[in-house]
Amino acid sequence: MRIDIITVLPQILESPLGHSILKRAQDNGLVEIVLHDLRDYSLNKHRKVDDYPFGGTAGMVMQCEPIDKAISLLKEQRQYDEIIYTSPDGETFKQATANELSLAQNLIILCGHYKGIDYRIREHLITREISIGDYVLTGGELAAAIITDAIVRLIPGAIGDEQSALSDSFQDNLLAPPIYTRPANYKGWEVPEILLSGHQAKIQEWELQQAIDRTKRLRPDLE
Ligand code: ADE
Repeated sequence: MRIDIITVLPQILESPLGHSILKRAQDNGLVEIVLHDLRDYSLNKHRKVDDYPFGGTAGMVMQCEPIDKAISLLKEQRQYDEIIYTSPDGETFKQATANELSLAQNLIILCGHYKGIDYRIREHLITREISIGDYVLTGGELAAAIITDAIVRLIPGAIGDEQSALSDSFQDNLLAPPIYTRPANYKGWEVPEILLSGHQAKIQEWELQQAIDRTKRLRPDLE
């Protein structure tokens, strides 16, 4: 899989994409993540990529030309499954969205900044708009990092124990059950006895019931 991320602030993405599971997935050739500085596609000698909005509203708007150039160049080189724009008014990112996108071969993620991008790019080039929640960030970079993280960890081989991606919270619209590690008794705080019983079927039954109870209590909207 290949993910091209277009942004005016590639530095913001370097750290979240450069450690732990995401780094290992890239080092092992499971995913290639390429950051593109939108300013490299500016025609302006000051590398400017934004301008004042028509109509007199406040703020700045990312111009068509650098974005069009960056996306067109990438599209000349390979076919993309989706060209995603991160925006608070997109569809809300869910585990199901991550599952679907993890099956793609090539993705572009365009990070919005300032007041956003010229609407014509959204009409003509963007195939999917994604929001990570109903709040407004200073830019789409952190959203792109979150989307990329959630997708990459689902690629087979990205996390050691594949079973653990399947048992994540939300994978079956249930929150994960509680988990514990040694010692079994810490300051008198005991691990539920069933988990020490070695009885796998009973443990699974207990975990499922815990997941159902926690979901009912904490996220009734998921039911
Ligand atoms: N850019 C600004 N806010 C955002 C959000 N909530 N989701 C995705 N991109 C954004």
